[in-house]
Amino acid sequence: MTQRVLLIISGGIAAYKSLELVRLLRKRGIAVRAVLTQSATQFVTPLSLGVLTEDHVYGDMFDLKEEREIGHIQLSRQADLVVVAPATANILAKMAGGIADDLATTLLLATDKPVLAVPAMNVRMWHHAATQRNLAQLRADGIRIMEPDDGAMACGEFGKGRLPEPEAIAAEIERLLALPKVADPLEQFVINHRDFATALEASGALAGKHVLITAGPTHEPIDPVRYIANRSSGKQGFAIAAAAARAGARVTLVAGPVNQPTPAGVDRVDVQTAREMMAAVEAALPADVAIMVAAVADWRTADAADQKLKKDGSGRPAPLTLVENPDILATLGHGAQRPALLIGFAAETQKIAEHAQAKLARKGADWIVANDVSGNAMGGDDNAIQIVTAQGIESWPSLPKGEVAQKLIEKVAHALSPVAD
Ligand code: CTP
Repeated sequence: MTQRVLLIISGGIAAYKSLELVRLLRKRGIAVRAVLTQSATQFVTPLSLGVLTEDHVYGDMFDLKEEREIGHIQLSRQADLVVVAPATANILAKMAGGIADDLATTLLLATDKPVLAVPAMNVRMWHHAATQRNLAQLRADGIRIMEPDDGAMACGEFGKGRLPEPEAIAAEIERLLALPKVADPLEQFVINHRDFATALEASGALAGKHVLITAGPTHEPIDPVRYIANRSSGKQGFAIAAAAARAGARVTLVAGPVNQPTPAGVDRVDVQTAREMMAAVEAALPADVAIMVAAVADWRTADAADQKLKKDGSGRPAPLTLVENPDILATLGHGAQRPALLIGFAAETQKIAEHAQAKLARKGADWIVANDVSGNAMGGDDNAIQIVTAQGIESWPSLPKGEVAQKLIEKVAHALSPVAD
């Protein structure tokens, strides 16, 4: 069956390359239906696109004739893949904010199909915090983002932000269209994950279950102004809490000091230290599932000073005596109120699977989700994990933390379901 792409062209200088992209896709036997934003019509004409796509070119949401023939909802659903190329900073911002103020953005909000965005913009616009924030949001929402190329720009500047070559975009489109047919269920999941998320939500796969999650770092005070901390951002744990709540669970999220908004439908308990986290976790029991994502400090100072430590003039640093913190995961794993499914995380920088295997046994957990934190997984937006269980090791490719969360909750729901194998 012919594969169909809905190509949304937004208005940047790179829009002219969309003509070549259409030609390459048609050459590969892919049908293309084009939608132009108002500003894109300054760069490419509906006439040339119409000739190349051999189809009507869409542009105005309030075109009565178009609406009668094909409503914009249908238009967004009739494709196998929606591609935004070039995607300007403006359309990315609208997509991230859920704004639908023209046909292109309305289609993007109404679609139930996977979406690939191919950004192209000035280097400074690309690196702007607002654009990067919007891209992170879009990735978390399951939108595929193609990295722009580096090089000379139409505006005379040099750097990242160029539209990738049409040949590379066509190859990526072909790869995404082929995904449902490939044997890799995870890739299949990624492309369909928003459909899946909706299904999980609709089915309330975790309805009636209590899921207890820890997230973020802990802060162990040295004196009133100093503390021992780590780089955990809490992103992964918060994303898991959000996914569990979407699946219908009652979620208790015990969070160390992080700067993350509370996900909808989640009961959040804020703590600072490992001992406070331990107490909050015990107070939240019983739970059906516990997912210990927090990067709990292994040690705290034996005595936090009441007053700020001062230099004593000797040139010697103030002595710090450290004592071990309670192991929350191990306490749960070996405790009387052990949740039916107990999941730990393991931040490792080497021998990942080997260390995770050892942790599984030592802490009495069912699964250890091991991640390599030698890169920037801690604090970053993506995570490549391995799930170590008594049955073996499952490796996932690097995915946005939102997708890791969604996929993990799918696995949890499956493990708890009566028909689980
Ligand atoms: N954990 C915990 N309480 C602690 C330390 C860790 O609950 N005091 C949990 C973490 O939330 C995580 C798992 O144990 O789910 C593994 O954490 P990690 O720091 O990798 O393990 P450690 O036991 O600290 O092992 P090590 O630092 O020696 O690698």
